[in-house]
Amino acid sequence: MNDLAAPAEEAVVAATAAAGPATTLDVALNPLRDPRDKRLPRVAGPCVMVLFGVTGDLAKRKLLPAIYDLGNRGLLPPGFSLVGFARRDWKDQDFAQLTHDAVKEHARTPFREEVWKQLREGIHFVPGEFTDDGAFDALAMALKEIDETRGTGGNYAFYLSVPPKFFPTVVKQLKRTGLADAPPGSWRRVVIEKPFGHDLKSAHELNEITNEAFAESAIFRIDHYLGKETVQNILALRFANNLYEPIWNRSYVDHVQITMAEDIGIGGRAGYYDGIGAARDVIQNHLLQLLALVAMEDPTSFDASALRREKEKVLKAVRLPADLGLNTARGQYDAGWQGGEKVVGYLQEEGIPPTSTTETYAAIKLEIANRRWAGVPFYLRTGKRLGRRVTEVAVVFQRAPHLPFSKTDTEILGQNALVIRVQPDEGVTVRFGSKVPGTAMEVRDVSMDFAYGESFMESSPEAYERLLLDVMIGDPPLFPHQREVELSWKILDPIEDFWHTQGQPEGYPSGSWGPESADAMMARDGRVWRRL
Ligand code: BG6
Repeated sequence: MNDLAAPAEEAVVAATAAAGPATTLDVALNPLRDPRDKRLPRVAGPCVMVLFGVTGDLAKRKLLPAIYDLGNRGLLPPGFSLVGFARRDWKDQDFAQLTHDAVKEHARTPFREEVWKQLREGIHFVPGEFTDDGAFDALAMALKEIDETRGTGGNYAFYLSVPPKFFPTVVKQLKRTGLADAPPGSWRRVVIEKPFGHDLKSAHELNEITNEAFAESAIFRIDHYLGKETVQNILALRFANNLYEPIWNRSYVDHVQITMAEDIGIGGRAGYYDGIGAARDVIQNHLLQLLALVAMEDPTSFDASALRREKEKVLKAVRLPADLGLNTARGQYDAGWQGGEKVVGYLQEEGIPPTSTTETYAAIKLEIANRRWAGVPFYLRTGKRLGRRVTEVAVVFQRAPHLPFSKTDTEILGQNALVIRVQPDEGVTVRFGSKVPGTAMEVRDVSMDFAYGESFMESSPEAYERLLLDVMIGDPPLFPHQREVELSWKILDPIEDFWHTQGQPEGYPSGSWGPESADAMMARDGRVWRRL
């Protein structure tokens, strides 16, 4: 979290080394030079990224383009190499072609031939099955050769972008071949994509297997929401300012709404999604991480251990309501209209069994049992095929204790709110009452907006650019610790168990804002979901 605090020592070393002798000397000889100086970019040191699952959607849409974008921004070292491993009868050029097409289609920054050429020189492919010892021996050989020809120094990051059932096999292979053990002076890291297990028990088992091969400090669990600028900005907003913290508590806050709405359906992901559902897919990770950042106490610094400690403390304090029937809702999308197009219902999606009880919408109410938040509900909701794509955190404040106006003057006055707009319209909104121009004292809601696009020239990097760079630099604050993962499962498991006894989720039309039971859940508390 170098933007907010001193970068890890390793990051500075990597950055200075990559920037050449002048910069190294400059830093070494000029003690006045602050290593946090923005002019000193965070650059990855020499290394190889080994990608398992290169033909998957994530690799094509996010990972390969992010690697190119890093290269385009000058943040990869010259010898950087990318090795793909998959069950395909491919040569290096086939993987290079796939990477090229993915970059052309999905990269954030413009395509530049010279950047691509440099990246292309470091692209290799190793064919094989995850169970094939020979293929992993060949991978070890290939990596050794790359070290010799490209000066990557035995530094490898293994990115497991594969279905979770393969995690144990791949990790065991990395251990067997010795690839998990870093020789002195080099590093080995493993990057695991969510889901980290299916429940607390399986998450624990997965961790034990990973820990047998890699030290905790070498394990990077990806929650891509933490790589988003707007999510990191929650920390800046809360802890770089003095304006909000005094009112950021039960004395002023009425409730908090965290929404992650998507307009897309499950697309081609039936195999992954069915049996997982909305809550395991995004509440267990993205939404609970947002809750933790919004509700935690201020960390003593932004280094990984201090940040994680505060997130853990608040996740530990989360409490479920006694009656889960009244305080949770789940739904499954029916056919409907979206963006002017007719779309099928979840049960008609290809690959979904017609009897599936998987939820595509989930809403839950949580409380936090600590001095700051006691009695303040946190409402979390997410769903596919909703009205539009929007993720936000809304901190809704209590009404003014006394209004010295006539009732009709403030008839349509809502509650003050501070809304962190995570995406797509990134920024922050403050909603408050203001006098309507005229001769009467009429008060109505207005809003004050901060928009990234207007305040900053720089465009935001993709979450995966930031996170991949952090992996290569070895900077872990934006990666959840296993304890956070397990605490999140502890929150979700009882809800999943309860839902398991409830049969079919309630239907909701595609393009709507979810099932009626979600509105009823809020209405019982005298509240409404924000209209987005
Ligand atoms: C992923 C989920 O973690 O996040 C997907 O598995 C979801 O189901 C995606 O669509 C949304 O990510 P973003 O960055 O588009 O909000």
